[in-house]
Amino acid sequence: MPSVLVLNGPNLNLLGTRRPEVYGTTTLADVERSCRATAAELGIGVDFAQSNHEGELVERIHAEGARVRRGESLGAVVNAGAYTHTSVALHDAIEGVDLPVIEVHISNVHRREAFRHHSYLSPVAVGIIVGLGVQGYDLAIRALHARGPGGWV
Ligand code: DQA
Repeated sequence: MPSVLVLNGPNLNLLGTRRPEVYGTTTLADVERSCRATAAELGIGVDFAQSNHEGELVERIHAEGARVRRGESLGAVVNAGAYTHTSVALHDAIEGVDLPVIEVHISNVHRREAFRHHSYLSPVAVGIIVGLGVQGYDLAIRALHARGPGGWV
């Protein structure tokens, strides 16, 4: 049974209490439950992780790339939080292991401050879901499942 990785970056552990007018009141534990239910419905596994440390996110990406190569994973759903807008290291990690990534943002970053408009991840993502709230995670899991191991492109 293949799996997907759902990887969350800095401050997403605060989901539910941090700026609820922007991110809502759903917690990361609620998101994890919902991702697990979606994956179970699709008959795939899910690994769910969050880190506030850039290097740890890089290492999770490398490990998932190896799992994809072994046919154990379909890819990753990545909400890199603020590292989206700053991290060449995450860009290079995804590109370096050729990891199929769906980039997710809970809020519509393009309606927000200009510094959130640029993403280092988008050029190396297979798809992007922005501004649909926490359901973006479930939609991204469905997208990786529909894409399968072969890929759209
Ligand atoms: C976010 C948007 C980012 O700009 C911000 O730094 C986050 C969350 C989102 O899910 O909307 O931490 O990725």
